Amino acid sequence: MSSYDVIVIGSGPGGYVAAIRCAQLGLKTACVEGRETLGGTCLNVGCIPSKALLHASHMLHEAEHNFAEMGLKGKSPSVDWKQMLTYKQSTVDSNTKGIEFLFKKNKINWLKGWGSVPEAGKVKVGDEVHEAKNIIIATGSEPSSLPGVEVDEKVVVTSTGALELGKVPKKLVVIGAGVIGLELGSVYARLGSEVTVVEFLDAVTPGMDPEVQKVFQRMLKKQGLEFIMGAAVQKTEASKTKAKVHYKLRKDDSEHVLDADVVLVATGRKPVHDGLGIDALGVELTKRGQIAVDKNWQTSAKGIYAIGDVIEGPMLAHKAEDEGMAVAEVIAGKHGHVNYGVIPGVIYTHPEVANVGETEATLKEAGRAYKVGKFSFMGNARAKAVFAGDGFVKILADKETDRILGAHIIGPGAGDLIHEVCVAMEFGASAQDLAMTCHAHPTYSEAVREAALACGDGPIHM
Ligand code: FAD
Ligand code: NAI
Repeated sequence: MSSYDVIVIGSGPGGYVAAIRCAQLGLKTACVEGRETLGGTCLNVGCIPSKALLHASHMLHEAEHNFAEMGLKGKSPSVDWKQMLTYKQSTVDSNTKGIEFLFKKNKINWLKGWGSVPEAGKVKVGDEVHEAKNIIIATGSEPSSLPGVEVDEKVVVTSTGALELGKVPKKLVVIGAGVIGLELGSVYARLGSEVTVVEFLDAVTPGMDPEVQKVFQRMLKKQGLEFIMGAAVQKTEASKTKAKVHYKLRKDDSEHVLDADVVLVATGRKPVHDGLGIDALGVELTKRGQIAVDKNWQTSAKGIYAIGDVIEGPMLAHKAEDEGMAVAEVIAGKHGHVNYGVIPGVIYTHPEVANVGETEATLKEAGRAYKVGKFSFMGNARAKAVFAGDGFVKILADKETDRILGAHIIGPGAGDLIHEVCVAMEFGASAQDLAMTCHAHPTYSEAVREAALACGDGPIHM
């Protein structure tokens, strides 16, 4: 039996980051992973492969729509789907191998197999039992199921199947206008599929700024995605090559059917902790089935911690990573901290959509007085030069103190731009602090500065 200071179960962004930080802090560390490769959902079947396909399909879109206007003539490229999947997989492989290298570099033992916790201080992998002074559960999440919808990962697929379809489908029906549905729906729309998104609510991407939701949906429609809103999917019927999607419109209960070659079910994800045996150890769950933790990420069982998608909070890789670093610091006797008020969210469509902090809805609900500074990318020279003038930056600041409370961006490079607002928020900056910071010209980031100026005496270029 080998013994460790820390055994991490799961090697996604939460688990592998926790393991690396534990090792860096001098703790003898192992990480259990049942998949063939390290990196979890994010590197294998999530963030990384989806971004590779988004990038490749965006290049095609640029060639088809914008090249001629810039004087780049010639036939648009055609799609070699097999090669696109090879490119996607090589991106995944180089990242998962990178984690393997980091494990070796930091002397972290990869315990290959599925782990469980037979008793406090012990982790079982296969027939072997290992001792651990501390256990970190980072077992992540999996797609939630939908009653009446049977996934076969060929015709009715989750995001995992959608990342490796045999061919580009002629008709794709996406159930759920959330992040996965819109990112992968965009990929296939750009590759030539007829994409119809069926959404239960009346707006896309629930919880997002309503103005952003409207503009975002309008832009996606322009790119060819069709939307059926306020529609509850009842069931799917699938053969080996086709499917039917039955849905009911909420406004009048009328029933409808859509034909599809492929159906993508993207209606949320749920935490994974079955088979760990933690219920027998008294580990409590939240009402929503996540592992409950205290402010130090410790579960109700002493010495057992949990982080990432398996606990409460946004299901995002960087949130899991931050918790991974923080829990390692706590275990090493230091101070671990995550500022849950400043976790950015990014949707990697074109244009990108990004947000951080409060929305107008949360501020109204809290009865806080706020002001809004908004600037359109139409007034940004760089954005106009690259056909990206649609969209805007919106900054929310406290009405009295001018302190930045949140930001919502739809437009070019939104996923990178949001971080200057994140840093400003971490330092408790005011909108004026951002507005008085010199921003290079011509950059997209000037739109952020102009939105900050709009919180005060007004923007210059609008
Ligand atoms: P996971 O990454 O889910 O890793 C958990 C690991 O634990 C898995 O490898 C699993 O095999 C392993 N495991 C589970 N049980 C056991 C066990 N008993 N023994 C051993 N190993 C076990 N987030 C972003 O921030 N940005 C994005 O662009 C983004 N894109 C996404 C795209 C898609 C299609 C999907 C599905 C998700 C995306 N996400 C994105 C979400 C992101 O992938 C997750 O938030 C993140 O992976 C959570 O990390 P984690 O470490 O908690 O768990
Ligand atoms: P989601 O929660 O973002 O969206 C699910 C959507 O499905 C919602 O709009 C919901 O109203 C709708 N829905 C639910 N039941 C329905 C029904 N019966 N009929 C029609 N619509 C229905 O979930 P999604 O897109 O599956 O993503 C899961 C998680 O993965 C998210 O929490 C997200 O954080 C993470 N993710 C993050 C990405 C990023 O950061 N760029 C990319 C992809 C995933």
